[in-house]
Amino acid sequence: MVSCALLWSLLVISLSGTLAQNAGQLSFDLEVRDNQPNSNLKMYHAHAAFRGVLFGALTRLANSNPDFNFTSSEHIDYGAYLESVNGLFGSFQDHTYWELLVQTANGIIRSSVGISCYIPQANEVVILNFTTW
Ligand SMILES: *[C@@H]1O[C@H](CO)[C@@H](O)[C@H](O)[C@H]1NC(C)=O
Ligand SMILES: *[C@@H]1O[C@H](CO)[C@@H](O)[C@H](O)[C@H]1NC(C)=O
Repeated sequence: MVSCALLWSLLVISLSGTLAQNAGQLSFDLEVRDNQPNSNLKMYHAHAAFRGVLFGALTRLANSNPDFNFTSSEHIDYGAYLESVNGLFGSFQDHTYWELLVQTANGIIRSSVGISCYIPQANEVVILNFTTW
């Protein structure tokens, strides 16, 4: 968690605009699967700072692409918790939430960390999957 705290402070700096320019960016694909009837999955081209966390990339994407938005809440132990993507909210009552998945050479895996700790790798596919628990 120390490294995550460090990354968090780096992220704050990078969002303020200074580090992002110096550190360079890598690109990856973000796939949003809302799993709603009559809805297709959406693909976005996203950019993360070098060794930057997903939260930064999602924020950058939301700021530059009107077709993507998200909201999150702050959790003291786990960092940012993804509450909604493109206006669709997870619901405690309905047992729904957005899970973070990553497409790897060995198939799709579930990330063990949240959006403020996950570090996207160049050219990978990160999936936000609306699902139930
Ligand atoms: C977020 O995206 C959804 C789906 O495109 C849209 O209906 C909603 O108005 C957007 N919300 C904001 C705050 O932009
Ligand atoms: C994504 O969510 C859907 C709907 O809950 C579920 O059926 C599917 O298994 C999930 N995908 C993965 C790769 O876990």
